[in-house]
Amino acid sequence: MNKPNTPPMSLADAINHRRSVRGFLPKAVPAEIMNAIFEQAQMAPSNCNTQPWHVVVASGNLRTALRDKFVERAKSGTPSKPDFSYVSRFEGVYRGRQVECAAALYGEMAIARDDTVGRNRAALRNFEFFDAPHVAFLCMDRSFGATIAVDVGIYAQTLMLSMTAHGVSSCAMGSLRSHPDLVRDAFDLDENMGILFGICFGYEDPEVPANNTRTSRVPVSDAVTFKDH
Ligand SMILES: Cc1cc2nc3c(=O)[nH]c(=O)nc-3n(C[C@H](O)[C@H](O)[C@H](O)COP(=O)(O)O)c2cc1C
Repeated sequence: MNKPNTPPMSLADAINHRRSVRGFLPKAVPAEIMNAIFEQAQMAPSNCNTQPWHVVVASGNLRTALRDKFVERAKSGTPSKPDFSYVSRFEGVYRGRQVECAAALYGEMAIARDDTVGRNRAALRNFEFFDAPHVAFLCMDRSFGATIAVDVGIYAQTLMLSMTAHGVSSCAMGSLRSHPDLVRDAFDLDENMGILFGICFGYEDPEVPANNTRTSRVPVSDAVTFKDH
């Protein structure tokens, strides 16, 4: 493998600067930057080095055609049919964090809690890929369960940090697991290849209000237990 073209951003800076971006400029990521990013993401660790991720990236006309198909499914109310089981409703502290995150986003977008039309419009933006010029779909064999999906999650964060370090913004998108047949058709994927989620990416449009969204995290003491006896 070629040595990754590592730009001068520290790991700490990449971790701190990465955030979900939901509005992009119509400017493609140049091929050499795209290659450097995906080259670096390959360094992600995995169970027995099985590297179980299979990633397909739609750009240009294919991205537009896929976007139109996702939008059409959303507008027609076609029920989603994800390949893997997922949590449809969070409870307790998780629900609280979900509500806080949605409030931060809708607050920036000036969408009130009872504004159903605004919320539907905001949801549709997912299927428009937030205007991103590229969308990656993270796939793995459908027979793999949660333990192997962990590897793909680790890959995804490695990928998004590499994007950040190269000045490229991203948003991981569970919503794009909803119609896996569209992705399999577009890339002629085997039926066994399951779609876990998408990541849209490109250059941030600083004029989009949603991009002012900032999320918080619970303190380490709520998330990690240290014990030595
Ligand atoms: C696996 C995964 C799926 C996600 N799906 C969506 C999505 O469908 N739509 C969306 O707008 N954001 C989505 N997000 C972004 C989260 O809302 C975001 O990561 C979280 O609120 C923390 O904010 P930050 O990424 O800006 O730090 C997803 C994030 C992850 C990791």
